[in-house]
Amino acid sequence: MSAPRPQPGIMEIAPYKGGESKIAGADTVIKLSSNEGAFGPSPAAVRALEGAARSIHRYPDGHAPELRAAIAARYGLEPERLILGAGSDEIINMLCQAYTGPGDVVLYSEHGFLMYGISAMAAGATPVKAPETNLKADVDALLAAVTERTRLLFVANPNNPTGTYLTADEMRRLRDGLRDDVLLVIDGAYAEYVVGTPGYTDGMDMVRAADNVVMTRTFSKMYGLGGARLGWAYVPEAVADVLNRIRGPFNVSIPAQAAGLAAFNDTAFTDMCRAHNDEWLKRTQDALRQIGLFVPDGVGNFVLARFPDTPGRTAEEADAHLKSRGIIARRVAGYGLPDCLRITIGKAEEMEAVIKALREFMGADT
Ligand SMILES: Cc1ncc(COP(=O)(O)O)c(C=O)c1O
Repeated sequence: MSAPRPQPGIMEIAPYKGGESKIAGADTVIKLSSNEGAFGPSPAAVRALEGAARSIHRYPDGHAPELRAAIAARYGLEPERLILGAGSDEIINMLCQAYTGPGDVVLYSEHGFLMYGISAMAAGATPVKAPETNLKADVDALLAAVTERTRLLFVANPNNPTGTYLTADEMRRLRDGLRDDVLLVIDGAYAEYVVGTPGYTDGMDMVRAADNVVMTRTFSKMYGLGGARLGWAYVPEAVADVLNRIRGPFNVSIPAQAAGLAAFNDTAFTDMCRAHNDEWLKRTQDALRQIGLFVPDGVGNFVLARFPDTPGRTAEEADAHLKSRGIIARRVAGYGLPDCLRITIGKAEEMEAVIKALREFMGADT
């Protein structure tokens, strides 16, 4: 008897494991494991979501006209070149599905976001990683890894979990070195925290200027709507035409559209989030460096810390120590970084608690 068989490659996918959210025996925890916004959603987004509850018997307008218009107006983009998705994960998936298949390669860097490989394999394509230099994507290594089979190149800017980013000049050099038929996807999941940093690009200008560049964004981080599932992408017209053919017609729900629009318009809230993140990113990086941990020059709403391989001081033991204090960080062995932890920037008191716990762990106060 033969059983139903999935497409080749599917069973080789290691299922994505999200950040942990529970510690056995602990009623309350400090969850710094999924790069969620420190302050949750804006109250305006919650009100909009509650208001939308009464309409959920209706199908959503699949074009999300109000949200699309708001995004287009703020950034001066053509609304018809925006694609909305149930999280940017869905858009990453759609890109792989539309542009790759068996025999094709999806390229990204050594410690790149795990979903690139998963989506590539789900489409039957082969994921290939190019080496990084000092935990940062390496333009030359990426270009050297491009072959005839390469169809898509993903670069998260900044990258998760390293926090490092390519400058606008480096990103331009990467794009200029690519064949016209390779699609460069600049994943700006953390761009809201970084835009305005000298030398940083979210890729928007490059999408305007080229037919083979796409920028993806999410509402899951600064906007605090990870549970609503909402992301968007700015893409060339031809790519929009392709994605609109495979996009589920109702892929973004009424509650997600309503909450997203309200969150997007609550700029007082996002200004507060950005200022808090600026302050605590730096304070956390400084504090962890002070106790002897290696912390790359990262941006975004998280810090990567590398632990020594000395018994008693390893990342695994640090994770256990944090858990004993009710704090959940993220192990990143799946990203090829078994000696590191990624810690999301939370509220002030949460960051004080994690810094205190790591000082204890590293014996800084004895
Ligand atoms: C680099 C990067 N891209 C994309 C995503 C996916 O975000 P979402 O599907 O919630 O929009 C994440 C989430 O952690 C991420 O870190």
